[in-house]
Amino acid sequence: MSPSPPPSPSSRRAAPDRSRSGTAAVPHRERGRYARGVTPPSSPGLRWGILGPGGIARAFAADLRTAGLDLVAVGSRRLDSASTFAAEFGIPRVHGSYEELVSDPDVDIVYIATPHPFHAAQAILALEHGKHVLVEKPFTLTATEAAAVRDAAAERGLLAMEAMWTRYLPHMVRIREIIAAGTLGEIRALLADHTQTISSDPAHRLNALELGGGALLDLGIYPISFAWDILGGPLSITASARLGETGADTEVATIMSHASGALSTSLSASRSAGPNTAHVIGTDARIEIDTVWYTPTSFRVVAADGTVLEEYASGIEGRGMQYQALAAERYVAEGRFDSDILPIDETVAIMETLDDLRALIGVRYPGED
Ligand SMILES: NC(=O)c1ccc[n+]([C@@H]2O[C@H](COP(=O)([O-])OP(=O)(O)OC[C@H]3O[C@@H](n4cnc5c(N)ncnc54)[C@H](OP(=O)(O)O)[C@@H]3O)[C@@H](O)[C@H]2O)c1
Repeated sequence: MSPSPPPSPSSRRAAPDRSRSGTAAVPHRERGRYARGVTPPSSPGLRWGILGPGGIARAFAADLRTAGLDLVAVGSRRLDSASTFAAEFGIPRVHGSYEELVSDPDVDIVYIATPHPFHAAQAILALEHGKHVLVEKPFTLTATEAAAVRDAAAERGLLAMEAMWTRYLPHMVRIREIIAAGTLGEIRALLADHTQTISSDPAHRLNALELGGGALLDLGIYPISFAWDILGGPLSITASARLGETGADTEVATIMSHASGALSTSLSASRSAGPNTAHVIGTDARIEIDTVWYTPTSFRVVAADGTVLEEYASGIEGRGMQYQALAAERYVAEGRFDSDILPIDETVAIMETLDDLRALIGVRYPGED
């Protein structure tokens, strides 16, 4: 199948490949109360339910277990699938439908781990049943959907949080501290890539538009969210993409300008073996985040004259997805029902940036006008 996506508003395409476009070392080891997967003493012990026991749910369940958090239930469209998952992770409550899971009185918070076109409806379903939600990235398919989830949570005084786990990792916490201290001087630029070789199968989630296929939403969300984190929202955006057989983007490059005048660039790709590194570049120094920058990793701070000012080594247990779960528990315990690391309004605004980028590269999903 080779659909023709509608023309993009500012198309500068490079057909025929179906491209689209529009405009003295200080060692430091992880520290702090959440380092090395330790459960903080203040943890209120939320009871977690997993909705959609697929690939990423397995990694998350393993990290919840690493951190000693209370994983009590799993729900799948198929009971046998939920049972297999439950046996693997020692989960006591098994549900053969999502409705059953969200109706379970012994569940406090539901982790939504299905493909992104289903996130909004499933998150709202859980919220309607009085559950907090941690929703995989991208939070939803569109900003309109994201706002609907935010509003549903606000109406009920519940937590709705994007599972942008990278922001909660200890190395990212340290990077924000370094930047806040002014070590880099004026930040002028940020560079990051998220590139993987995933699959060229048109039916694969990364390629199937009906499953939210495309490198931008699945992978590009990381560097775009990182740029938002460090530099704030964009004032202008430019993007070029290469589209695959299904019309989903397989490579997308972005340039954004930010309020301070700083520029950010990103490359995201589902069929390319890139470095997966990131750099934050200032007038006085830069931060070099090693591969794979969005997972627990090392980085260094290098002064303009080449002096290494700080080296950071990662040593946490597991994949690192437990830190966002610990943060969610803390927010609920404090009764503030929003993330200070990635507030829900920022999640919605980031989805608007992704909407704008998709308009530039000509990627639209089934059901969009
Ligand atoms: N944080 C990360 O590092 C990370 C990594 C990978 C993916 N993700 C995100 O996590 C989400 C899930 O990704 P994944 O790779 O784990 O997906 P997946 O394994 O393909 O699917 C996860 C689950 O969603 C349900 N599902 C799958 N296809 C469906 C369909 N066509 N219709 C309805 N339900 C369907 C299934 O649950 P049932 O058992 O109920 O059938 C499946 O087990 C995506 O939004 C993705 O972007 C995050």
